[in-house]
Amino acid sequence: MKTTLLFHKLALVFAAQHAAAAASTVTVPAAKTKPTNAVAAPGDFVGFGFEMAFLNDYANDFSVNLMNAVGGRVSERLTVRLGGTSNDLLTYDPAQTAVKVCVSGDCPIGSAASYILGPSFFDGFDVFANFSFSVQAPLSPTLNVSNAVTYVGLCLDHVADRLTAVAIGNEPDLYAGQFKVTYNVSDYVAGVTSLRSSLVEQLGLSGQIFELMDIAYLADSTTPTKITIQNAFNLGIDAPHTATVAAVHWYQVWYKITSLADMQAYAMNHSATVANFTAGSPQDIAFLAANYPDVKYVFSETGTGLVSPLTVQGSLGAALWYADFQLYAMAQGAKRVDGTMRPAANHSLWVPDDSAAPANPGPQVRAPFYTLPFVADFIGHTPGDVVEVDLGSDVLTAYASYNAGSGTLGKLALINLQAWAEGVSMGARGSVTFAVPAPSGCTVSATVRRLTAAAGCQALGYDYAGPTQNITWAGEQWSYAIDNGKGHMVAGVNAAETVPVVDGVVHVTVLDSEAVIVSF
Ligand SMILES: *[C@@H]1O[C@H](CO)[C@@H](O)[C@H](O)[C@H]1NC(C)=O
Ligand SMILES: *[C@@H]1O[C@H](CO)[C@@H](O)[C@H](O)[C@H]1NC(C)=O
Ligand SMILES: *[C@@H]1O[C@H](CO)[C@@H](O)[C@H](O)[C@H]1NC(C)=O
Ligand SMILES: *[C@@H]1O[C@H](CO)[C@@H](O)[C@H](O)[C@H]1NC(C)=O
Ligand SMILES: *[C@@H]1O[C@H](CO)[C@@H](O)[C@H](O)[C@H]1NC(C)=O
Ligand SMILES: *[C@@H]1O[C@H](CO)[C@@H](O)[C@H](O)[C@H]1NC(C)=O
Ligand SMILES: *[C@@H]1O[C@H](CO)[C@@H](O)[C@H](O)[C@H]1NC(C)=O
Repeated sequence: MKTTLLFHKLALVFAAQHAAAAASTVTVPAAKTKPTNAVAAPGDFVGFGFEMAFLNDYANDFSVNLMNAVGGRVSERLTVRLGGTSNDLLTYDPAQTAVKVCVSGDCPIGSAASYILGPSFFDGFDVFANFSFSVQAPLSPTLNVSNAVTYVGLCLDHVADRLTAVAIGNEPDLYAGQFKVTYNVSDYVAGVTSLRSSLVEQLGLSGQIFELMDIAYLADSTTPTKITIQNAFNLGIDAPHTATVAAVHWYQVWYKITSLADMQAYAMNHSATVANFTAGSPQDIAFLAANYPDVKYVFSETGTGLVSPLTVQGSLGAALWYADFQLYAMAQGAKRVDGTMRPAANHSLWVPDDSAAPANPGPQVRAPFYTLPFVADFIGHTPGDVVEVDLGSDVLTAYASYNAGSGTLGKLALINLQAWAEGVSMGARGSVTFAVPAPSGCTVSATVRRLTAAAGCQALGYDYAGPTQNITWAGEQWSYAIDNGKGHMVAGVNAAETVPVVDGVVHVTVLDSEAVIVSF
């Protein structure tokens, strides 16, 4: 009852906001040829991520079908980051028949738990033959070198020929609190240096293969003891220069949010994302570009948050936030975003089985999955050069992709983050009409594809919420119940629309809580 009242109050606010938005036409000031600040879109930008302990929950045809649906949209092999808190706490028992046994902590489905792995755990890698892996050597303030070398060695038995990186530890900036010890950047650099030399010597790892940092928080580097990219690199963490990735984690909202208004303010809000990003990423990206140009800046763990309900984290609104975050990160020079999940986590892109039911039922495709085919299609088989077209708005964003050879504008992603939810927002759904410049060679028409749901930003998708809350990207729907995640076109939903070029301009109407890709 309380919730309903709250929603009605908020709905009035949204009705007013959407009335303003409904009438507007927004000119997208995209250059018709490539501007100098455009960055090459990495063909393997879209990544997956499994919390280590749950590799075998994901190792099924349903997951592989979903992943192939994304991987088939680009030409490079995509990466799965296997890691997380459970990865630092694991041990191995060669005599154990079970895949894993949870022995302490957040058992049996948590990430902050210690698991003993048996040999059959490692078979989980084999079903993901089309994907590369980043695996993690367990690090902690009390380093168990033989344990770490054994684990990584067993992973390599399965993925040595498709290895993106070997990460060393997870969220070292949280070790002090997690293990109740003092742990500063010097301790971290010493731990990495020691473990890395054992990995190199005992497993024969060579070349640029290590993933460093995997820090939980973006932070400035003005406090020299803090575990940040600049502090660690300046202290010589990559002295042998074997790093390929410097990774950071990103949870958009660390506290619990429940309402549509919170969703609008903290997630479906480009300015909030940019403000968060500015806390560390631009400085670190610039630092790496200047000093370690072949070390990639990667968001290796990402999600809307960790403690909010499915109505927030499993919604189309979360997918739209994720699309904006990913494209913004790409335009700023990040090289990959890993879509992180475990069966019990509400931000998961899909839930692979029923191991976390009833709190988080499965198997099911969840709304944030839709961001991946959207971003993969924006990149495509011949990745372009990408730039944000700043619209100076909290809720409207645009990203342009230029043909890497000719420099001609090829695609535009337009995202309308104005929150509208059926049954919650009082007014009719608003829209924005974008006036988009067509490149010189495009005089007849452009194609528009939509990421959309009739129910608006609180749509939770077919598997979780049934046919009134369908979500589609370019007319396509992914569902466990219907076809085990293979993907199918929903009858009556447009795969693509053709819009005319008039006087060199295309007008594209995008509903509130919807995103499109315009292709010229
Ligand atoms: C790998 O992808 C190809 C198509 O790109 C598909 O035919 C094949 O079945 C996939 N293999 C696996 C193991 O998923
Ligand atoms: C190190 O790990 C191995 C198993 O991987 C375990 O048998 C051993 O007890 C661990 N050592 C310590 C000190 O925890
Ligand atoms: C980290 O702490 C140790 C003492 O525990 C200290 O010697 C060292 O200087 C500190 N590192 C930095 C970068 O301040
Ligand atoms: C973004 O900023 C808010 C407010 O300062 C903070 O609560 C949140 O944790 C930040 N998120 C990230 C990913 O930095
Ligand atoms: C979006 O976030 C910015 C920065 O945190 C804030 O100033 C603004 O009020 C937010 N906008 C909305 C619509 O909530
Ligand atoms: C996940 O979502 C469910 C359903 O909305 C909710 O009951 C649960 O508290 C959420 N979990 C967390 C950790 O927030
Ligand atoms: C929603 O999806 C289901 C399953 O694909 C389909 O049967 C139904 O027609 C869809 N509803 C609408 C309105 O498109």
